[in-house]
Amino acid sequence: MLRSFCLILIAPLVSSVALTIPLTVSDSAPSVTGNLFSLSIEQDRWLDWAGNVSRDNFFFNTLNNLVALTGSDPKIRIGADSEDHTLFSAAVPFVQQAFPPPTTTVPYPEATSIVVGPGFYQGAKFLPKGTGVTWGVNFGGKNLTAIFLETQAIINAFSSSAFKDAGITLDFLELGNEADLYKNNGLRSSSYSVSQWISLATNMSRTANLAHSDTKIWGGAFAESSHSTGGFSPQGIFANGILDSEPGAFISTISQHHYSGSFCTGSGGLLQDLMTKATIRSNLSSFTPDIQATQAQGLDYVLGETNSYSCHGAPGVSNTAGAALWTLDYALFASQIGISQVFFHEGIGYKYNLIQPAVLTRSTLNGSPLATPLQPHVQPQYYAAIIAAEAIGDSQQTQAIELSISNTRISGYAFYEVGTVKRAVFINSLAFLSGATNRTSVHLDLSFSGSGARPTTFSVKRLVIGHADDGSGLTWGGRTYETTDGRVGGTATSEKGTVSAGIDIPATQVVMISF
Ligand SMILES: *[C@@H]1O[C@H](CO)[C@@H](O)[C@H](O)[C@H]1NC(C)=O
Ligand SMILES: *[C@@H]1O[C@H](CO)[C@@H](O)[C@H](O)[C@H]1NC(C)=O
Ligand SMILES: *[C@@H]1O[C@H](CO)[C@@H](O)[C@H](O)[C@H]1NC(C)=O
Ligand SMILES: *[C@@H]1O[C@H](CO)[C@@H](O)[C@H](O)[C@H]1NC(C)=O
Ligand SMILES: *[C@@H]1O[C@H](CO)[C@@H](O)[C@H](O)[C@H]1NC(C)=O
Repeated sequence: MLRSFCLILIAPLVSSVALTIPLTVSDSAPSVTGNLFSLSIEQDRWLDWAGNVSRDNFFFNTLNNLVALTGSDPKIRIGADSEDHTLFSAAVPFVQQAFPPPTTTVPYPEATSIVVGPGFYQGAKFLPKGTGVTWGVNFGGKNLTAIFLETQAIINAFSSSAFKDAGITLDFLELGNEADLYKNNGLRSSSYSVSQWISLATNMSRTANLAHSDTKIWGGAFAESSHSTGGFSPQGIFANGILDSEPGAFISTISQHHYSGSFCTGSGGLLQDLMTKATIRSNLSSFTPDIQATQAQGLDYVLGETNSYSCHGAPGVSNTAGAALWTLDYALFASQIGISQVFFHEGIGYKYNLIQPAVLTRSTLNGSPLATPLQPHVQPQYYAAIIAAEAIGDSQQTQAIELSISNTRISGYAFYEVGTVKRAVFINSLAFLSGATNRTSVHLDLSFSGSGARPTTFSVKRLVIGHADDGSGLTWGGRTYETTDGRVGGTATSEKGTVSAGIDIPATQVVMISF
């Protein structure tokens, strides 16, 4: 009696799944670059990230940590909603702006007006050496003077010696943010049209002298996609001849924006939905026709602005450890379907940030005043960027494949250098929420396929998480990035495993094994 009772209690806690890791991959396996994880930054408070008269060391350090792991140049897009409200005045040294009052659901609202001057763009010189920048120019305002002056100021900044010496380059210009929504948000009375974009972008491309520079244009930047030639989509703008136009010929990349939904309040259920393997795949796979249409034109495809839930994130969801697991699986899965970079959107005080570079005096979750201001810090999602950076490594020629794992909660990816397996990452996306008592674990039975030397042992690093809804306190291989300067702290743990024994992965954890 007692015996069977125990079995019933214990039996469900560990289940098992077998999986096979190919020892090698061919050239056709997806390549993953060290800057798969990139950032999109809300333009209004850009200088609170970079620094105005001197470098913001916290932000610099958090980017530099990724550079140190991957040897890849960071990519940053600056723009988004406030890009379409930005005006220029040479008389403003940095930026002048006005903000609406904070609310419970939007504790850190975007500026209602923003006038920038030359120093605003020059702030990009404080980025790590080699950073490639995409800068958004105001299309929403339908103001040719603003387009002209902003473009000129951007070009002046990037052609200055400070930028040249640091190898900080203007990779792309973007004209307009989510123009598919202009008709709904009051920026146009009737729909955005490709012909309108072409006419204003002609001034931008001539002012920037794109015909004689390495700078290209990001096309699209739509909030949604019709996935067909009717409506707003890459297919739609191609069908309307954008690529044959003078400025459209400079489009080398299509940027798509995506959020998994819009929720201004959170719950444990919502966090589990976000983390779920199937919803991550269905969210991203819906873009497959767009990616194919883009690649058919010989263009690159990126998620130029994305994060968990719009509304700057859902409280108790977007800012949590569970969201870190979502972030990792989302970006790695994106790499499998032809998305070359994923720009996670950030703004000062937003709930879904990887990084909070500024001192915050109000709660990011409900806007209430904080007795003790929050110093610059990283949020849980930052660990996802670190894990991906370590998994991709610094070979500059890493390939990754998703492993087939028949378990709705476990996803896995293997990483290859010169075609040979080096590491694998596993994610258990079952949400272990605070208040829950049983934490299940899944046993991974490992085997290899293909020919070549078969590793028998591996080292292990774990992203250890208290609860999926925790906002802090994560450790990666025993170490923490929740430090005052954004550099790694704490003491590394060391764990080894054998292929014959396999490995266990508890609910709400990431495991990386290195052969
Ligand atoms: C530069 O940024 C700091 C910190 O946000 C701010 O206090 C200062 O007023 C800014 N300086 C200028 C000249 O805008
Ligand atoms: C157009 O842009 C210029 C430069 O940013 C600005 O001075 C002017 O006020 C803008 N015009 C309107 C109607 O907003
Ligand atoms: C772009 O527009 C501005 C403002 O109307 C104008 O001064 C400038 O000459 C235009 N540049 C080009 C290359 O058309
Ligand atoms: C995207 O993910 C969310 C959960 O975060 C889910 O509710 C939504 O249905 C998914 N959308 C698609 C298109 O799969
Ligand atoms: C707790 O146990 C139940 C019953 O076995 C299972 O359905 C649930 O997923 C478990 N929760 C976690 C977080 O492991």
